[in-house]
Amino acid sequence: MTEETSSDTADAQFYDQARYVQGDRYEPLLSEKDQTTVDVSEHCPLPDSLTRDSLELPALSEPALVRHYTRLSQMIYGIDTGPYPLGSCTMKYNPKFTEDVAAIEAGAVHPDRDQDSIQGTLELLYRLQGYLATIGGMDAVTLQPPAGAAGEFVGIRVASAYHEHNDEGHRDEVIIPESAHGTNFATAALGGYNVVSLPSDEDGRVDLEALEAALSDRTAALMLTNPNTLGLFERDIETIAEMVHDAGGLLYYDGANLNALLGRARPGDMGFDVMHYNVHKTFATPHGGGGPGAGPVGVVDRLAPFLPKPRVRETDGRYELFDPEHTIGHVHGFQGNWLVLIKTFAYIARLGDPGLADASAKAVLNANYLASQIDYEIPYGPFHHEFVASAGGQDAADVAKRMLDFGVHPPTTKWPEIVSEALMTEPTEVESKSTLDSLAVAFQQAKRSDTDTLETAPNRTAVGRIDQTSAARNPRLSWHALEE
Ligand SMILES: Cc1ncc(COP(=O)(O)O)c(C=O)c1O
Repeated sequence: MTEETSSDTADAQFYDQARYVQGDRYEPLLSEKDQTTVDVSEHCPLPDSLTRDSLELPALSEPALVRHYTRLSQMIYGIDTGPYPLGSCTMKYNPKFTEDVAAIEAGAVHPDRDQDSIQGTLELLYRLQGYLATIGGMDAVTLQPPAGAAGEFVGIRVASAYHEHNDEGHRDEVIIPESAHGTNFATAALGGYNVVSLPSDEDGRVDLEALEAALSDRTAALMLTNPNTLGLFERDIETIAEMVHDAGGLLYYDGANLNALLGRARPGDMGFDVMHYNVHKTFATPHGGGGPGAGPVGVVDRLAPFLPKPRVRETDGRYELFDPEHTIGHVHGFQGNWLVLIKTFAYIARLGDPGLADASAKAVLNANYLASQIDYEIPYGPFHHEFVASAGGQDAADVAKRMLDFGVHPPTTKWPEIVSEALMTEPTEVESKSTLDSLAVAFQQAKRSDTDTLETAPNRTAVGRIDQTSAARNPRLSWHALEE
């Protein structure tokens, strides 16, 4: 660190600390705003069997309703409000033109329509399968899974079907680095596998000796992301692929970090056999608050017959649905989350090869610039699109909550555990230098905050510090529950 960083000089410019206050502190429930309820039957003459009274919809005017939801939207933080450097999760800004493209297509087709009357739709899906295969260096793609985690599950089911088909069903272990995302462990367990946890070497990468010891004729797959969750490129990836393949296993690529390699390097060329794409992390589609999203899966030729059905193919200029020969079956209705897939297509088509390569270059540059502007220990590097800083003697969760007081979203905290009090930070390519400087200010200010301030933060947000355990374990998801 230099004596004075540009974020220090940016302090005054970006943050008059007393100025940032987020939204309203209180917005009543709709039911508190108006006690009269709408008689649905008056407005909507449906048979009695299709109506119910239990909804108790409040009788509010359109402006009252719009104001309610607009005020609520001002009480939360989103990517349209400011930077959102949530490591691993890649919160890219969602460009609005993709919404326009999806809106044009949205009403146009019913999924049950005759295939000859939806040739344009099928062509779009076919071309998207091709774009993704090319980007990942894969041979075949299914668009059906509705999220990254669902993609993982499909990928592991495909691997499992492949082994069964080859009389290798005794393979009952999936190897996963200890720094991997929780969904990897959950996927392997849900897929019926025993998880073998792989320690990292002192550089934070796969420990080859430990891998050698873990591999056996029980190995079904090794799940990896590259760069890994510390943002480090697995330099030995070709050796790793050879070791896994020699043991008869498959190499699974968790696509969560593809944004670091986009247009520059391909998992398929590194030796990966199966991968998922998190389109919300890489191709700027909305995360959708847990869904609906999309997590397409790509595979090499030998796994293609096991992909879910149906897929789209082209024969003599006609596009049609078909079932792969040994398909694992349906994993989603129709073609997956069609509107998300249109947005993915639009994003890739608009950026093209140079735009995608530019995105990954800037994602890496931004992470490295931000890291150079903060006075935190970053134990592992050189990193690519994300870095894991340590909050040192402070509690990472306190630091994160304090950062909210400066009008930015904090990084992911306390993971991976390989770094103590981890702040896993991924600014993405979309942020400008001045926004990165403002993020750096928030990091620096949080670090300088006294213990009392840290422990009570955030103080300038619409909702203050909550009991996280109760919020996670006993969520009240409706106003009925709240009343009770
Ligand atoms: C490394 C990694 N793998 C998998 C996932 C799961 O992806 P999704 O959120 O799309 O289910 C995530 C999500 O953040 C991730 O960071």
